Amino acid sequence: MRAVRYHEHGDESVLTPETVDRPDPAPGEALVKVEAASVNPIDTYVREGHVAPPSGLPHVGGSDLAGVVEAVGDGVTAVAPGDRVFATGLGLFSPGTYAEYTVAPVEQLAPLPEAVSFRDGAAAAMAFATAWRALVTRGDLRLGDVALIHGASGGVGHAAVQVAVAAGATVVGTARDGDPAAFARELGADAVVDYRSEDLEGDVAAATDGRAVDVVFEPQADAHLSANLARLARGGRIVVIGENGPITLDGGLPMAAKKADADLRFMSVMASPGDQAPILERVGERLADGTFTVAIDSVFGLEAAAEAQAEVLSPGTIGKVVLDTSR
Ligand SMILES: NC(=O)c1ccc[n+]([C@@H]2O[C@H](COP(=O)([O-])OP(=O)(O)OC[C@H]3O[C@@H](n4cnc5c(N)ncnc54)[C@H](OP(=O)(O)O)[C@@H]3O)[C@@H](O)[C@H]2O)c1
Repeated sequence: MRAVRYHEHGDESVLTPETVDRPDPAPGEALVKVEAASVNPIDTYVREGHVAPPSGLPHVGGSDLAGVVEAVGDGVTAVAPGDRVFATGLGLFSPGTYAEYTVAPVEQLAPLPEAVSFRDGAAAAMAFATAWRALVTRGDLRLGDVALIHGASGGVGHAAVQVAVAAGATVVGTARDGDPAAFARELGADAVVDYRSEDLEGDVAAATDGRAVDVVFEPQADAHLSANLARLARGGRIVVIGENGPITLDGGLPMAAKKADADLRFMSVMASPGDQAPILERVGERLADGTFTVAIDSVFGLEAAAEAQAEVLSPGTIGKVVLDTSR
C-alpha cells in the first residue's frame, strides 16, 4: 500500500511517499481503508521530534482519518467491515493516517453518517473533538456564557466558534481582519477582533459591551494570556490547547487571576484518546443535520503530504487542509 513515512525527524523534506506492507489489526483494533486524512499542526510537531512516537522510526504521519473498516482483529464486535468511520488522536501511540490503510483501536472509531463525506469527516475529526472537549468537557461552557475563541478562522477555532454558538454562548472570536474575520462571523460569532491589535484587551471589552469573559478557548497561550486574564469573569476558565513559546504572567495579573477565582486549564486530544469517539459520534450527527459545517481550505493528494504540512502552518489558511488518499 502507499504511505507517507519518515525515517528521521526533520523538516517537511523527510516526509517520503513509499510502498509498505499493509498492517494487520491486532485484537481490539480495526484495519481502516483511509479515504481522507486531515493535516494538523501536531503532525508537524511529531515529524520534527518535539513529541516522539514511542514505537520509534520509521513512522507514518497523520493523526485523524475518515474511511471504511476493512477488517477487524480478534474479539472486535463494536465495528464490522464496511462501516464508515472517522477518528482522531491517532498517529502517536498508534500508526499514522497518511496511508491507504491504517490500524486503529476500535474505541477511537466513531460512526460517520452517510450524509457526511469522507473529506468532511477527516477535516472535522481533530477540529471538533478539540473544540468540544476544550469548551464543554474542560471549559464547562454554559448557556449565556461569554466565550472568547482565539484563532477563530483556523482549523480548531472555526469548530470552536460553532460549538460555542450551539451551546448558547455569546461568542467573540479573534482572527485577521478581512476574509478570516468575515468567515468567523458567518459561522455565528457575535463579534470578531483582530488578534494583531495592540489593544486586544480593550477590543474584547468593546466587543462584549464590557461583559467579562467566562470561557477562553486558547490555542496561542503565549500570545494573549495576559489579555485573557484581564477580561476574565469571576470563576472564568481559560482552556489552553496550544502555545508557541513560554507562557508568562505579567505584573499584577496573578493578583487579578486570584481575585477572579480564575481557572487555567489544559487539554490534549492526543492524551485523551478514549474520550474522542463519543464526542465525534455527536459531531457526526450535527454535521449530517447541518448544525455544524466544516471548512476545507485545500485538498492535496497523499504524495503531496509535505506540501500540505507546509500549507497548514502558513498564515491565512481558513479552516482545514485535507489529504485525499485516492489522489
Ligand atoms: N491540545 C490539543 O488537543 C490540540 C488539538 C488541536 C490543535 N491544537 C493546537 O492548536 C493550535 C491551532 O491548531 P489549528 O489546527 O487550528 O491550526 P491552524 O489551522 O493553523 O489555525 C491556527 C489559527 O490561529 C491563528 N493565529 C495565529 N496567530 C494567532 C494569534 N497570535 N492569536 C490568535 N490567533 C492566531 C491563525 O490565523 P492566521 O493564519 O490568519 O494567522 C489561524 O487561523 C496549534 O498549536 C495546535 O497544535 C491542540
